Amino acid sequence: MDNLKSAFQKVFGSTDLARLFFAPGRINLIGEHTDYNGGHVFPAAISYGTYALAKKRSDKQLRFYSMNFEQDGIHTSSLDDLDYKEEDGWSNFPKGMIQALIKDGYTIDAGMDILFYGNIPNAAGLSSSASIELVTGVMLEGLFELDIDRIRMVQLGQQVENNYIGVNSGIMDQFAVGMGRKNHAMLLDCDTLEYQYAPIVLQDHDIIIIHTNKSRTLAGSKYNERRAQCEQALADLQKTLDITSLGQLTVEKFDAHCEQISDPIHRKRAKHAVYENARTLEALEKLQQNDLVAFGQLMNASHESLQQDYEVTGIELDTIVEAAWKQPGVLGARMTGAGFGGCAIAIVEKNQVANFEEQVNAIYRERIGYDATFYLAAIGDGAKEITEDTQSAK
Ligand code: GLA
Repeated sequence: MDNLKSAFQKVFGSTDLARLFFAPGRINLIGEHTDYNGGHVFPAAISYGTYALAKKRSDKQLRFYSMNFEQDGIHTSSLDDLDYKEEDGWSNFPKGMIQALIKDGYTIDAGMDILFYGNIPNAAGLSSSASIELVTGVMLEGLFELDIDRIRMVQLGQQVENNYIGVNSGIMDQFAVGMGRKNHAMLLDCDTLEYQYAPIVLQDHDIIIIHTNKSRTLAGSKYNERRAQCEQALADLQKTLDITSLGQLTVEKFDAHCEQISDPIHRKRAKHAVYENARTLEALEKLQQNDLVAFGQLMNASHESLQQDYEVTGIELDTIVEAAWKQPGVLGARMTGAGFGGCAIAIVEKNQVANFEEQVNAIYRERIGYDATFYLAAIGDGAKEITEDTQSAK
């Protein structure tokens, strides 16, 4: 807080009336590439995230500064000119969110000075973009005393990502970031947006995030291609089945009809979507029954399916996950997020964590040529204002 305040003072002047907001990043325990297929996901918010220290101005100017991109200096815009501009770089994310709220009928009638700071590992696939969208959402809600339904805010975040930034992602990231709850994961039905919280009780285990340090960009990746392949598979199935998404299929029904999907590649993609959805529902049950061994096995099966049928892992993630499976005290490991680089997660016995990190990194470095980075995942709350009270409550 003190660092943010002194940076704000240096860049913008007085911090009087400035308020602090936070939105987390996320991991996904299981349910990958199911969200845009109308299936279930099981993500959780993490304690790493994006902070915004902000105050209103008396004119319509918007000034954005990020401690992560100091070389950019201040990006300046105005409430009257919120359209996407290449040269506005990262500040397009908050600009897009401001525009989305205004278009949705919320009154935002003053400019702002906003300082951002994020501690989500760089290009890790832990939803730094959903995090900056949602921190902007709660900031606008707070500064302009708006009453915004949280699910609506989540949907607006996704719209910014899809229509303004131009990444065709599903709802999982914004949902996890907007709706997270400390020590809980969320099972979300992406078809209906029904959700439930499930306590994460891992007994003497921790969730370790392993960053491949291979950066990935969603827009430039094969993400949109996978999406289109699933849509094709769905269209083939719809010739005889009355469904609107792959998520509506049971494994049995899929197996009985999969020959209808003419392209074998599309069939593999759809198989992943359907089987992964079933695994996700089963994973919730196993967690609720405290059967962590079975939960871990479902994570492993998820990775294999993402590797073989969905083909979004790559040598870096596979090396990490396969190395993780071999270590003592590991219940399960899989890639998390979109894939193509980014991060994996593993559930590791607490007293084996040091050994795990050392062994996995040695194998990774030997094969890939550089180090992986390891983080302990603490499961935290969704986007919110941070006040003296919430700070001292911690
Ligand atoms: C990215 C997208 C999400 C989801 C995952 C894969 O994180 O933003 O919507 O599709 O990939 O599960």
